[in-house]
Amino acid sequence: MLGRVNHIAIAVPDLATATASYRDTLGAKVSQAQALPEHGVTVVFVELENTKVELLEPLGDASPIAAFLEKNPSGGMHHICYEVTDILAARDQLKAGGARVLGNGDPKIGAHGKPVLFLHPQDFFGTLIELEQV
Ligand code: CO
Repeated sequence: MLGRVNHIAIAVPDLATATASYRDTLGAKVSQAQALPEHGVTVVFVELENTKVELLEPLGDASPIAAFLEKNPSGGMHHICYEVTDILAARDQLKAGGARVLGNGDPKIGAHGKPVLFLHPQDFFGTLIELEQV
């Protein structure tokens, strides 16, 4: 079911500082910041040769990463995103196996304009998993 790692996401308290750190200290190529109100985050992508790192900052009052940052005030790894070729088939297979899909179970359009879903971290060893159809 799983293809390559599309990105690893890190929640950060200050996106400008985190972006500057990746760009200037680590010497990585970074994207422009992109506000995703539907997901409650602003994102910057760090472009690496083999994958991307997604820096996430809360956007709005009901950001899904606000509670995470309360527990991890200096930031932390938030989720890992795997590619799938058919997100609805993957969802149905996972649900049949007892995994919990977050939200209403329907894919949303993610930061790359592709359908995404999130799986409950308690079902996958404490790691929030994002699936992205490519
Ligand atoms: Co993501």
